[in-house]
Amino acid sequence: MFQTKHDILPEQTHDEFAREEFCGTMRKFFTETLWPGNNDVYQGKQLPQFEARHGRKPQTRSEVKELMEETFYYRCSNLFGRVAQEQLWDTVGESIERQLPSLIEKARPKPDAIGSLELHPEMPMPKYIESVDIHVMPGNFHTELCEGDVYQGALYDRGVYYFAYGGMGAENDKLGVAMAGYVKSAFPDFKPKRIVDMGAGMGFSTLPWKDAYPEAEVYGVDIGAPMMRYAHARAESWGKKIHFSQQNAVETNFPDGFFDIVTHCLLTHEMPVKEIQRLFKEAYRLLAPGGMMVMDGGKHIKQDPDHELFSSWFTNNVNEPFASGMGRLDFEEALVKVGFEPDNIVYSGPMGPVYLKGMAANSVSGDKAKKQSAWGSAYTVAIK
Ligand SMILES: C[S@@+](CC[C@H](N)C(=O)[O-])C[C@H]1O[C@@H](n2cnc3c(N)ncnc32)[C@H](O)[C@@H]1O
Repeated sequence: MFQTKHDILPEQTHDEFAREEFCGTMRKFFTETLWPGNNDVYQGKQLPQFEARHGRKPQTRSEVKELMEETFYYRCSNLFGRVAQEQLWDTVGESIERQLPSLIEKARPKPDAIGSLELHPEMPMPKYIESVDIHVMPGNFHTELCEGDVYQGALYDRGVYYFAYGGMGAENDKLGVAMAGYVKSAFPDFKPKRIVDMGAGMGFSTLPWKDAYPEAEVYGVDIGAPMMRYAHARAESWGKKIHFSQQNAVETNFPDGFFDIVTHCLLTHEMPVKEIQRLFKEAYRLLAPGGMMVMDGGKHIKQDPDHELFSSWFTNNVNEPFASGMGRLDFEEALVKVGFEPDNIVYSGPMGPVYLKGMAANSVSGDKAKKQSAWGSAYTVAIK
């Protein structure tokens, strides 16, 4: 398995490659085999026992949780998933530490850059970013330990590749490609002039918009300086003209009506509901009339309590404290609150998608994703 090379992708020695592959296969085994087995344990044993005891099905997520915690399988698979994830970051991190000084040098903006990089070191970090290492990724998205630091960016680029065991594509960009492709095919006459990707990270979800609309000016915004430095160097190395800036997506410095598309991918599940609401408000402000906010996630459908439990695995086990809240948020209601008309909200996909239904959200793609309706398999477009 190989990622597409770019100038600041960390190199791997033979042993680093072997260890990182091992971590990737552990995660894959967890998401594709071990964790889904919980469904069999629940349906085959725990649910019938509960029904026999109480004459009804469990009604809440905590009832299902209590029931599953009686089983060794559930407790053990939670532990395995947590350890596999911690081990992945630690293993990838070792190889980045070894070559960090050279990565920092390579990432320094060049005078002949085609895109741009704007940093705001004075910017306050939101509490929800500072107080928890999301995904148990040490240092989260924002930590800087030295001048020009790109460690978090490199960790995320290589780490996500193994986290999904290549499932996000050789450029970790499958979700971005799918979202931009969906908008292009669903709205063939729409010709956006300016596009911004909020929570752009490494640019996985940003660059596909430049490929889909080469004439458009494309911007990427992220809260983390190490992410933006790394994203800038990565895009430059592939000759993609993108304007990256370190900003809080809920209060950016762009003028009203500046964009035709405001997009975000894998951002809302990391934000408290109050901040998601602010993000939608900011998107509405930034859109020109007729512009679109394009996001991952589909129409809200109330989940069964067992699905609610299984889809809150990330919240319960690997420091994604807000993923469950986001899963219960009715996006349509939240979008209407900031000014979008209900009739101007369009959902992709034929199957009434749900956020995070089932487990394995990060490992499913293609046909499996269609069946499971997980992350990345559904999009919402709100037109101003
Ligand atoms: C899971 S990553 C997704 C990155 C990218 N969109 C992708 O699809 O790969 C979430 C990103 O959102 C950023 N983020 C979180 N809160 C933010 C905020 N309030 N403003 C801007 N970026 C934010 C994080 O720094 C992180 O890079």
